[in-house]
Amino acid sequence: MGVVSLSRIILLLLPIVLLLSSLRSASAAYSSDNTFVDCLVNQSDPSHPITSAIFTPKNTSFFSVLQAYIRNLRFNTSATRKPYLIITALHVSHVQAAVVCGQKQNLQMKIRSGGHDYDGLSYVAEVPFFILDMFKLRSIEVDIKNETAWVQAGATLGEVYYRIAEKSKVHGFPASVCPSVGVGGHISGGGYGNMMRKYGLSVDNVIDAQIVDVQGRLLDRKSMGEDLFWAIRGGGGASFGVVLSYKIKLVRVPENVTLFQVRRTLEENATDIVYDWQNIAPYIDNNLFIRLILDVVNGTQNGTKTVRASFIAIYLGDSKSLLSLLNEKFPQLGLKQSDCIETSWLRSVFFWINMNVTSPVDILLQRQPKVLSYFKRKSDYVQKPISKEGLEGIWKKMIELVDTILYFNPYGGKMAEIPSTEVPFPHRAGNLYKVQYQANWNQPGEEVATHYINLTREIHQYMTPFVSKNPRGAFLNYKDLDLGINHNGKDSYDEGRVYGEEYFKDNFNRLVEIKTKVDPGNFFRNEQMFGDGMEV
Ligand SMILES: Cc1cc2nc3c(=O)[nH]c(=O)nc-3n(C[C@H](O)[C@H](O)[C@H](O)COP(=O)(O)OP(=O)(O)OC[C@H]3O[C@@H](n4cnc5c(N)ncnc54)[C@H](O)[C@@H]3O)c2cc1C
Ligand SMILES: *[C@@H]1O[C@H](CO)[C@@H](O)[C@H](O)[C@H]1NC(C)=O
Ligand SMILES: *[C@@H]1O[C@H](CO)[C@@H](O)[C@H](O)[C@H]1NC(C)=O
Ligand SMILES: *[C@@H]1O[C@H](CO)[C@@H](O)[C@H](O)[C@H]1NC(C)=O
Ligand SMILES: *[C@@H]1O[C@H](CO)[C@@H](O)[C@H](O)[C@H]1NC(C)=O
Ligand SMILES: *[C@@H]1O[C@H](CO)[C@@H](O)[C@H](O)[C@H]1NC(C)=O
Ligand SMILES: *[C@@H]1O[C@H](CO)[C@@H](O)[C@H](O)[C@H]1NC(C)=O
Ligand SMILES: *[C@@H]1O[C@H](CO)[C@@H](O)[C@H](O)[C@H]1NC(C)=O
Ligand SMILES: *[C@@H]1O[C@H](CO)[C@@H](O)[C@H](O)[C@H]1NC(C)=O
Ligand SMILES: *[C@@H]1O[C@H](CO)[C@@H](O)[C@H](O)[C@H]1NC(C)=O
Ligand SMILES: *[C@@H]1O[C@H](CO)[C@@H](O)[C@H](O)[C@H]1NC(C)=O
Repeated sequence: MGVVSLSRIILLLLPIVLLLSSLRSASAAYSSDNTFVDCLVNQSDPSHPITSAIFTPKNTSFFSVLQAYIRNLRFNTSATRKPYLIITALHVSHVQAAVVCGQKQNLQMKIRSGGHDYDGLSYVAEVPFFILDMFKLRSIEVDIKNETAWVQAGATLGEVYYRIAEKSKVHGFPASVCPSVGVGGHISGGGYGNMMRKYGLSVDNVIDAQIVDVQGRLLDRKSMGEDLFWAIRGGGGASFGVVLSYKIKLVRVPENVTLFQVRRTLEENATDIVYDWQNIAPYIDNNLFIRLILDVVNGTQNGTKTVRASFIAIYLGDSKSLLSLLNEKFPQLGLKQSDCIETSWLRSVFFWINMNVTSPVDILLQRQPKVLSYFKRKSDYVQKPISKEGLEGIWKKMIELVDTILYFNPYGGKMAEIPSTEVPFPHRAGNLYKVQYQANWNQPGEEVATHYINLTREIHQYMTPFVSKNPRGAFLNYKDLDLGINHNGKDSYDEGRVYGEEYFKDNFNRLVEIKTKVDPGNFFRNEQMFGDGMEV
């Protein structure tokens, strides 16, 4: 009893202690205490000196290293808490040292690969922390004969696609079309792209992995066991270990694919076409993925606004067969040959990031995106078509809010065939499409951010009647710290159930069991942790 209440008191005091220590500047903490660096040096392989991979706030390049992979400008402010140090691992022993030594410090470890986490969880924390940065561990070994590749966590998807295409024009990998996204976060969080209706998620095409576990051991699929291997295919790597690399199964793509974009405003019958899209896109040929983007644009009359529906698609085939398919199944769209672009699968990536498909392919190797913005994202799943009246209400709300964008990504096909327990990602059969809510802005400042974040919450709240319930759904890769918190700001974590069930549904319990087994001390913790009592 006494022990319990003592530990309770310590727990209650812990936030105060952490707060006090966080008030000290990071560099002061470092100069008064070198044990972390000493431990890192001691624990790593001397033939791969770790000192050149350690950046404390005293090193002149600390801030540029930190900023190099901040992909949401919302977290690029002087008020954002800075890490005690950054380890830009150059060798597996540096990763092992970070895990072993990090546990001896009272520091949270943030693992960063590509830095695209929507809420900045790979480089922002509310408690003292350090960053294990994986961007230097980015080798890609493509084995075309076996149709596989080993890809390290720090590689970007653009690099992966480029290296595959270098070896074969008829192979690809189903993952995001955003080339700067990192393998480490993308695949461990599920990973979807425009071939998911044919080939499923990235994690449906992962056959092995290498991780460093909480004891600092280097494990592969065989030595980690099927439970842990299951967890790191969509359960979020950061809760289970450090992913060093995944072995992926390549998929077949035609030498040329067909792309199109067709746009319709409300005045051009967008409501009817969007309504029909809901009953067509999730059921049509698996070679065809038609994304729908909804935004608010100026109407033809001065001062008026309208909603614009952009149908953006990739077809794994030629334009002739695409036109005959759409003439039969979706004539309302009015697709014409002149809307179609035929190009290689590799170049099709450009189309999705608004670049000319004739751009030099080397651009896919550029790790720094051209423009960065401030943004907030949220997600939902739609399981029943929304009525025309429902859509009209959504348009009215969007026009009122102006600056929100909705992405509808059709499911069905392979996504509906894979059992919902196959990997932690649970949103399979029964889902027509996933919704992503966006707000993007270009100015710094808390007030501006609050305004735009509020817009995403407003539209998300408005959509409640139209989306999945009990639990409502969300996609882990669309990280959203609002989950588990009431929109009035009140904390309602309920021991992790809210985000746990929204991201993982019935798979959450298995994730909690695995987490408890492989990391009982909860070293691999983050803002959205797994299970009861994990807050210690
Ligand atoms: C512009 C843009 C486009 C996107 N498009 C898509 C899309 O089409 N499809 C899709 O599925 N998602 C998409 N996303 C979301 C993206 O997949 C996730 O944000 C993903 O987690 C990013 O991976 P990362 O390595 O770049 O990010 P990071 O911020 O480095 O990591 C994200 C999370 O994974 C953890 N993590 C990172 N590396 C490791 C590792 N090696 N071991 C263990 N844990 C690790 C981090 O700690 C963090 O919690 C997009 C994001 C952006 C910003
Ligand atoms: C590092 O190793 C040296 C010599 O082996 C030892 O004296 C020292 O205590 C070690 N430091 C840490 C932080 O482990
Ligand atoms: C950062 O500074 C420390 C202490 O001066 C030094 O040991 C380390 O090598 C420096 N890191 C880099 C990458 O230069
Ligand atoms: C991030 O902030 C730093 C420091 O204020 C600034 O120099 C840098 O330009 C910012 N990065 C971007 C991409 O705006
Ligand atoms: C292909 O995979 C098999 C079995 O995994 C392996 O034995 C073989 O060496 C691989 N082939 C090549 C060319 O690497
Ligand atoms: C693919 O497109 C290129 C360029 O348009 C063309 O030269 C090539 O013949 C096409 N390949 C096939 C298999 O149609
Ligand atoms: C909209 O629908 C009407 C009636 O079906 C049709 O006459 C009209 O041509 C359509 N407009 C567009 C832009 O497709
Ligand atoms: C819109 O306003 C501009 C000037 O403000 C005017 O020249 C133009 O004719 C107007 N267009 C319409 C469609 O009313
Ligand atoms: C839309 O209209 C507003 C005025 O109502 C104008 O300021 C703005 O530039 C217009 N935007 C575009 C993209 O034309
Ligand atoms: C793309 O570039 C080519 C040649 O550089 C040009 O002919 C074509 O019009 C461009 N396409 C688009 C959509 O801008
Ligand atoms: C957004 O802001 C408005 C006005 O401040 C407020 O009334 C509303 O409750 C907020 N919405 C959400 C979902 O937080």
